[in-house]
Amino acid sequence: MRGLFITFEGPDGGGKSTQIRLLNEWLTARGHEVLVTREPGGCKVAEEIRGLILDIRHTSMTPVTEALLYAAARAQHVEEVIAPALEAGKTVICDRFLDSSLAYQGAGRKLGFTTVADMNRHATHGLVPEITFLCRINTELSRLRVWGRSVPDRLESEKTDFQDRVLRGFDELARRYPERIKEIDAGRDIQVVYDEIIGHVRALLERREHGA
Ligand code: TYD
Repeated sequence: MRGLFITFEGPDGGGKSTQIRLLNEWLTARGHEVLVTREPGGCKVAEEIRGLILDIRHTSMTPVTEALLYAAARAQHVEEVIAPALEAGKTVICDRFLDSSLAYQGAGRKLGFTTVADMNRHATHGLVPEITFLCRINTELSRLRVWGRSVPDRLESEKTDFQDRVLRGFDELARRYPERIKEIDAGRDIQVVYDEIIGHVRALLERREHGA
């Protein structure tokens, strides 16, 4: 059976990494072979592209260039890392995927979902996660977490109206794909958030087992 593809999405500072680590542990303890990866990045070429995109000095980068670079990083990552792992039956947990491009470049940079989806067709070959956790926290909390953590990168330093458009982009995606995208209020206690995520994954695994 093909491996399970899980993604985590949401605004910056939404507490994705903790939940990814916990889910990895939960799945591994149940005998799944898990690969945790992230975008942009996840392999050498894509990590190099990541450095280019997030570099705070690149203030002149156009939205189209930015979107194509994310797509280029994704093309390499899918072909080199994600697709082979899924074919080998592994469970892949990816920190951000195409939904981030739709929310950040499509909504945030105003390129539109259709344009960004088109740009990504050659990158994903139609690969869609089976389940996506959209980790939300309110914008203020997100900003505090990002600024308290380290020096913000180029996208994190964007103004609040950009961040608001990104959030609305994620809202719209959740509305369009309610079956796949599970909205998680990540501002709550870690354990409560974890229980909710595990509940969804457990249900998904049961459905897969019964061929539904
Ligand atoms: P990262 O440090 O990984 O952010 P986080 O830890 O919050 O996930 O930086 C990735 C940044 O790139 C983040 O601001 C979201 C943005 N991004 C896009 O704009 N488009 C994309 O397609 C992806 C994958 C990320």
